[in-house]
Order: sequence, then structure tokens, then C-alpha cells
Amino acid sequence: MHFEHTHLLYFSPTATTKIILNQIAKGIGKHISSVTDITKPDIRHLPTPEFKNSLVLIGAPVYGGRLPKEAADYIKTIKAKDCLAVPVVLYGNREFEDALLELKNILMDCGFVPLAAGAFIGEHSFSSRDFPIALNRPDRQDLETALLFGEKIAGLVSQTSNLSDIAPVDVPGNFPYKKGTAFGSFSFIDVKDACDDCGICITACPKNAIDPDDHWATRDETCIYCCACIKACPLNARIMKDSPIRDKAKWLSENCALRKEPQMFLPG
Ligand SMILES: Cc1cc2nc3c(=O)[nH]c(=O)nc-3n(C[C@H](O)[C@H](O)[C@H](O)COP(=O)(O)O)c2cc1C
Ligand code: SF4
Ligand code: SF4
Repeated sequence: MHFEHTHLLYFSPTATTKIILNQIAKGIGKHISSVTDITKPDIRHLPTPEFKNSLVLIGAPVYGGRLPKEAADYIKTIKAKDCLAVPVVLYGNREFEDALLELKNILMDCGFVPLAAGAFIGEHSFSSRDFPIALNRPDRQDLETALLFGEKIAGLVSQTSNLSDIAPVDVPGNFPYKKGTAFGSFSFIDVKDACDDCGICITACPKNAIDPDDHWATRDETCIYCCACIKACPLNARIMKDSPIRDKAKWLSENCALRKEPQMFLPG
């Protein structure tokens, strides 16, 4: 089957989803017509794309075994006609639970036919030098798997003659979905004196949760604990202070150390 376009769309505060989606696209080997990065809040306020006669790779991280609300709410508004989709989730070596099924179901409601799906591992957002969790993932091995996944997708597309012949790919997960983790609202970031007010953390935040006039002030009720600001700070001046998130990071580091491998879900 021939598609006029290949598109990428992702939400990726700490960039692991972005890296894997680009690597899968490299494996597919087609020209990429558009890349929609919905991480930044301003982009999510723009009109959503309408895809036609395309193959679309759509990725998001796993938050509490579900999709981040910001990603799910946006993706639900996409419209697709005569399109195949490849849903992909990135998780921090704990579990992805219902997130991939949730993404697949949302894409079907948008009008996509989900051809194949993937669950890959990225360094956990809460990972730090003190509490490493899936440190430096995706690594070389993960990237090779993502490339291979892309090649398999290209093979499947070329073997397909009609969209209506394709059954939506099976993925693990339960419906009704599990409840996402509600951490509540609390302060979990400290800013050290080393901060030079460069503003990089503000630009990195997917929720506009950092006061542009005071980089030390985070709006706790808006923050989604994605840790993009902590990881983006060039001076390591933003750190995780004692909080339920730091406790969780310690627990994950101790209990989710056994390496998990990416999973590809393919038809048949
Ligand atoms: C609030 C929150 C909840 C998370 N929940 C999970 C989870 O349930 N299971 C898991 O393995 N990783 C979990 N993670 C880790 C992310 O899924 C993982 O680090 C992912 O690679 C981040 O993607 P990104 O780099 O594209 O932002 C969570 C991260 C955050 C910030
Ligand atoms: S990125 Fe770091 S150094 Fe720059 S303003 Fe934010 S906390 Fe300060
Ligand atoms: S302030 Fe909160 S939402 Fe914004 S980047 Fe930092 S952790 Fe993420």
C-alpha cells in the first residue's frame, strides 16, 4: 500500500519518547512530512491536525500506568481519514499497564487503523544520580530495536493492499482502565543558589508552571512532576527535595532495577 505522507506526533517532556519515535521513523525510511511536538503548552492550543492517507506515529510517556492527561486530551481531538497509526508508549522500567491500550483506543476513535504498536523503556523522569532508574535509556540496544520496529512497519505497509483488510493490532491492557496516580499537589523542587536565572527551565516546562519572573517559584497545583525542568537545568540548580516524589524515586530505584526490554506488537 502507498501512503502519501508519514507524520510524527508526540508528547515528551524529557525527550525519550521523541528519540524513540524518530528512530522508528528512521527504520521506516520514508520522508517525514510533519513532526508535531505537543509537549509545549502553546502548541496544544493550536488547532489539531487532520491527517489523510497517511501513516502516523504517535507517542507518549506512561504516567501512573496511563497516558498523561495533557497528551490524551490533545490526541482525542485529532481527525484521521484513510490512515494507519502506530501507537508507542515510553515507560520508566516499572510497567506500562493500560497506557498503550488507552492510546490505541483513542486513535481508533479518531478514525485511525492501528497497524502495530510499541512499548519502549526510557530513563525514568524521577531518575537522578542518587536514585538511578533505567539510567541512560533508551540506549544503543533500544535504538536498534526501534530501528528494526520501523523496518517491520515498512514491510507490513508494503504487504497491505487495502486498509479495510487490516485488523487493529492487539495490545496488552485492561478496560476499564486503572486509575492514574494522583500525587496531589505539593512542592517537590528546590532551587539552589547556583541558579543564574537563564530561564531554560521555564522553556522546558510543558505546563507553564514556573513563574517567568521568579524561577524559584513553581505553581504546585499546575505541575505534573514531569521533571523536564530539573533535567534541562544546565547548572543542576533545580533539585528534587524531600517529598513523595523523592520517596517514589528511591522506591523505584530499589525495586525496578531489573532491565526490561522493549515490546513490539505486530499483527498475526
Ligand atoms: C508523573 C509520572 C508518572 C510516571 N509513571 C510511570 C509508570 O507508571 N510506569 C513507568 O514505568 N514509568 C512511569 N513514569 C516514567 C516515564 O514514563 C518515563 O520516564 C518516560 O520515558 C518519560 O517519557 P519522556 O522522556 O518522553 O517524557 C512516570 C513519570 C512521571 C513524570
Ligand atoms: S534552568 Fe537552572 S539555572 Fe536556569 S533559571 Fe532554571 S534553575 Fe536557574
Ligand atoms: S515545573 Fe513541574 S510541570 Fe514544569 S517542568 Fe518542572 S516538573 Fe514539569
